[in-house]
Amino acid sequence: MANVSESAVWDALKRVEDPELHRDIVSLDMVRDLRIEDSSVSMTLMLTTPACPLTGPFKEAVENALLSVPGVSRANVALGAEVRGHKGPPERRPVEGVKNIIAVASNKGGVGKSTVATNLAVALAHRGAKVGILDADITGPNIPTMMGFEAGFQARSEGGLRPAERYGVRVCSIGFALPKGTPVVWRGPMIGTAVRDFLHNVDWGELDYLIVDLPPGTSDASMSMVQEAPIAGAVVVSTPQTVALEDATKAVAMFDRLQVPVFGIIENMSFFVA
Ligand SMILES: Nc1ncnc2c1ncn2[C@@H]1O[C@H](COP(=O)(O)OP(=O)(O)O)[C@@H](O)[C@H]1O
Ligand SMILES: [Mg+2]
Repeated sequence: MANVSESAVWDALKRVEDPELHRDIVSLDMVRDLRIEDSSVSMTLMLTTPACPLTGPFKEAVENALLSVPGVSRANVALGAEVRGHKGPPERRPVEGVKNIIAVASNKGGVGKSTVATNLAVALAHRGAKVGILDADITGPNIPTMMGFEAGFQARSEGGLRPAERYGVRVCSIGFALPKGTPVVWRGPMIGTAVRDFLHNVDWGELDYLIVDLPPGTSDASMSMVQEAPIAGAVVVSTPQTVALEDATKAVAMFDRLQVPVFGIIENMSFFVA
C-alpha cells in the first residue's frame, strides 16, 4: 500500500497559485478539509468569490498538483466559496453584515451607470453571492424600475426604509418612500444624512457585496458615500466620447484622492447606431 506523505501534499499545494491573486493557495488559506486515505486525496478549494471565472482550469491545476505527489493515484477537489470582507481605514464605519461595498460611478448622467450596477448585482447573485444594491442616486432613483418594481412600489417598515428582493438581490432606494413621480429636492447636508441612513439604518442582513449606484459627478451624495463607507473599490462607467472620457477621468481622480481603488473603467455603448 502506498504511503502518502502529508507534508509532500502540502508542498505540492504550495506550488499552485490562484490565477488572479498570484499567490499560492496555501498561504491564501484556500485549502480546506484535506483528507488522505491510502492513495486518494480529497480537499475543498475555497474560492474567494463564487463569481470566479476560472474555476475549471484552477481546479484541474490543483488536482494535477495532488496527482504529482508520489503514491497519490486519485485526487478529488470540491469547490467552495467564501467571500472575504474588505476593511477600510478605521475612520470609515463598517456597514453591519456587509463584507464588501462596490461603488459604481460616473461623472455624467446617461452613460449606463445604473444599467451596469443592476447587471453587476444580478450577475453576482446568479453566481451564488449574497448581493444588495443601494440606489444612492437620491435625486434620480432609477434602480426600482430597472430591477422590475412597479412604479410607486413602497417598502417601508417601522424603522424606515427596508430592502425588497428581486432576482435574488436585496434592493433599497429612496424611490421606495416616494409617491409615484415625485421629484426629490434635497440640499447637500440632507443628502449626506440620507446616505448615512441608507448605509447604517437599513437592515441589509448578511451580504457578500453591496453595489452602490452613485449619482453622477462629484456631488454631495457621492462624496458623502465615499467618505462615509469603507468602499472596497469603484467601477467607473463612461462612453467613448471625448467629453465623457474627460469626465470619467475626474471620477477616477476623486476616488484616488479619497484612497478608494478603482477596479476599472467600463466603456459602455461603444457602438451607437443612429
Ligand atoms: N449598452 C447599452 N445599450 C443600449 N442601451 C443602453 C446601454 N446602456 C444603457 N442603456 C440605456 O441608456 C439609458 C441610460 O442608462 P442608465 O443606466 O440609466 O444611465 P445612468 O445611470 O448613467 O444615468 C437607459 O435607458 C438604458 O437602458
Ligand atoms: Mg442612473
